[in-house]
Amino acid sequence: MNYSIITQQVVNLCRGVGKFIKDESLIIQSTDIELKGLHDLVSYVDRGAEELLIGELKKLVPEAGFIAEESGIVESAKYRWIIDPLDGTTNFVHKIPIFSISIALQEDSKTVIGVVYEINLDECFYAWKNCGAFLNGKPIHVSTTNLLSDSLIATGFPYYDFTRLKPYLALFEYLITNTHGIRRLGSAAVDLAYVACGRFEAFYEYGLHPWDVAAGAFIVERAGGQLSGFNEETEVVFGKDILASNALVHSNLLEIIKKYFTP
Ligand code: IPD
Ligand code: CA
Ligand code: CA
Repeated sequence: MNYSIITQQVVNLCRGVGKFIKDESLIIQSTDIELKGLHDLVSYVDRGAEELLIGELKKLVPEAGFIAEESGIVESAKYRWIIDPLDGTTNFVHKIPIFSISIALQEDSKTVIGVVYEINLDECFYAWKNCGAFLNGKPIHVSTTNLLSDSLIATGFPYYDFTRLKPYLALFEYLITNTHGIRRLGSAAVDLAYVACGRFEAFYEYGLHPWDVAAGAFIVERAGGQLSGFNEETEVVFGKDILASNALVHSNLLEIIKKYFTP
């Protein structure tokens, strides 16, 4: 398989479907929105975008299966696409311009391609196996900041699993008072892409799904960053929590996270 060519095709596909999502963002109404959970919104745009993506991705790698947020799992042996057609749906429906498409390709359960397209700024982040990471054709790298006190950190707020809310808030308080600050963009895929290109030193969240992180985590890794679970787990795509960083602040941050999130 030529990963570089397929990545380019996925990038082009994301730009096309991104245009559909952007056009719909101008006309979507509150009656078009359904609740999957209290804080879990979905619309015809999420479903329509996923249908368009799956239709085209099937042509690129006909033997691949799918793990897709809105339509579920189609099993396969060697290859599978992991897709979030619209990451940041709450932003999308509230007309806050940070939302993205996130697509990863796995081969034998290891990610080999990752593409995150942030639609409003027209920024496409991508990487493929044995290569670096790129933003709109230019190489990107994680930041070189090595002090937590100089770091800007991203997170996502818990929205369905509140069992770990107390340690989450205690950690949040610590980081607010000991770093440059915390941001919550509302798209985990964009958070990860921003770690990859050095805008954030780190990103952490629990309760994410494979489609939120598969592409972004791979791009962070290819951009020189580090990934783990809150307890040093190495599997992050199917894990229950994620810390992504520029590698330089990883162990320091992990030590602090572990103090709050005891296994
Ligand atoms: C959500 C976004 C958000 C994160 C949530 C995700 P969705 O995805 O990535 O940033 O905090 O955990 O579920 O529902 O907009 O695809
Ligand atoms: Ca998502
Ligand atoms: Ca989504």
